[in-house]
Amino acid sequence: MCGITGYIGGGESASVLSTGLKNLEYRGYDSAGIALVGDQVKVHKQEGTIDGLTIPNETEATHGIGHTRWSTHGEPTDENAHPHTDCRGDVAVVHNGIISNYTKLKEELAGHIFESETDTEVIPHLIEEEIARGADLRAAVTRVLDKLEGSFAVAATHVDYEGIVAARQDSPLVIGHGEDGMYLGSDVTAFVEYTRQVSYLEDGDVAHLSEDGITIFNDGERVEREIQTVDWDASAAGKAGHDHYMHKEIHEQPHALRQAISGRIDELSGKASLDIDLDDEFLKSIDEIQIVACGTSYHAGLYAKELIEPLVDITVRVDLASEYEVYDGYDARNTLVLAVTQSGETADTLSAIRRAKAPGMTTFAVTNTVGSTITREVDDSLFIKAGPEIGVAATKTFVSQVTALALFATYLGRVRGTLSAGDGADILENIRRLPNAVQSVLDSESQIKRLAKQYVDSDAFFFIGRGLAQPVALESALKLKEISYAHAEGFAAGELKHGPLALVTENTPVLAFLNESASPGETFNNVKEVESRGAPVIGLTTESNSGSFCKHSIDVPNLGRLGPLVSNVALQLFAYHVANEMGRPIDKPRNLAKSVTVE
Ligand code: F6R
Repeated sequence: MCGITGYIGGGESASVLSTGLKNLEYRGYDSAGIALVGDQVKVHKQEGTIDGLTIPNETEATHGIGHTRWSTHGEPTDENAHPHTDCRGDVAVVHNGIISNYTKLKEELAGHIFESETDTEVIPHLIEEEIARGADLRAAVTRVLDKLEGSFAVAATHVDYEGIVAARQDSPLVIGHGEDGMYLGSDVTAFVEYTRQVSYLEDGDVAHLSEDGITIFNDGERVEREIQTVDWDASAAGKAGHDHYMHKEIHEQPHALRQAISGRIDELSGKASLDIDLDDEFLKSIDEIQIVACGTSYHAGLYAKELIEPLVDITVRVDLASEYEVYDGYDARNTLVLAVTQSGETADTLSAIRRAKAPGMTTFAVTNTVGSTITREVDDSLFIKAGPEIGVAATKTFVSQVTALALFATYLGRVRGTLSAGDGADILENIRRLPNAVQSVLDSESQIKRLAKQYVDSDAFFFIGRGLAQPVALESALKLKEISYAHAEGFAAGELKHGPLALVTENTPVLAFLNESASPGETFNNVKEVESRGAPVIGLTTESNSGSFCKHSIDVPNLGRLGPLVSNVALQLFAYHVANEMGRPIDKPRNLAKSVTVE
């Protein structure tokens, strides 16, 4: 949701910035731009992706900032592209987030000429005013921040200032400490080619980046932020020969799963051993888990409910984070609020966590992103260790989230004494088998690709499943619709006859989950109902029910409670190949961005 880059150092600024923007494009691709600072501030920006932007090969610039945009205020046009400047063109600013009081601030800036419809543009004009009053850029940005309401990450330059000033309030900013200079990014991928030494700005931080280092102030006081080494390397952020990041990430799943599982199943005791600090006595005392999440992570949360409730004997409520409410007088002591979020930056999820913390609920995050905002706000985190996910459509992180949550379910079940030895051994064995099971689905890609080709022109696609397979039906439909723009919907299989059956025709394939753990017998009845209306059915089957009823069958290994998760991989490939047949921009679906940092 908008990506920010910055660089100051001995390297070629324009090239460093454009590499950073390319890497951050998944955060938004409505427009791209950079400001290069030498004797003057030169801005290059335009609607569309960074590939369409002409950037000079050689410049005198010593430093600069860049931006890739996901539009909020104002359409994706050249004028609305960042960086934005002041009236004189001396100040340049890039911004991620929303300035909620920008109309009022604009009214106060009488005499200033604005060129865009963005909320951002007030910032360079406010900085201009402060500089006219004698402030240097750092002091000016600090004063301007006091006037801004909302959530934002900002980077600013001025023609007479040897450095970049960056500030964070509720939107992420990461600093890269390189050998040849200092880097700035909305996340680590912005500069992972150049350095893996990073520090994370915190809310209220105002940082001054110079060629030699960084100084950070918070509330007027000088502060230090710990430098950490990230274990992502540049190749992890590349396409490695695949046509799309999404395809690469689908194929990375066996590896991602091994990372998620590694060291977390104690071979001697046969128990899940998780590196978490939540107190056992607290975990024994809770009587409800409330899961909050959005999109694909919400579907992982729904899957987790189906896993946790029977194994742990506890009520699990799953809320869309944007709908989460805590009612006055709620007794918060015995509730664990669990956020599921790949990025750890999703504004709706962060806001739900803040609502939960207000009455004192204990909060926990399952996330992919070390150092993300959520990890700093919750009481404890469990990392899914999937590595960087660049494709806007989440794939490997969904499977890794569910796996981490399955491990958490067994951990919790043991702590609370509710998990039988048999159930525990069964689920851990299936977790161990998961990477190979997923690999076997990937090996059947050619069959799935043929089916995608056969049905690409369908009017709509419906996905049906029961129990553990219902969240996967929702997830499979989301995947297909977001990357192909086809009409796709997921339903609880039993609900079809209560309405959606009216949509079913001979031109609407129905993809049915028939895994052993997902009540296949009952779902077969629903398969018959749609077949008798002429719909072609693709069954996600296992050996025991392969080919029994459906027009087509995709066989996946029987992995007990994790069977539907394995079937999901087949439908990730199905969605990918349908979208590819349609020629869609798979890694950058229209109107979307990864990491949605606005509510
Ligand atoms: C869909 C997708 C989104 C995200 C959602 C939450 O493929 O990726 O639905 O799952 O925006 O994002 P995180 O998990 O980062 O909180």
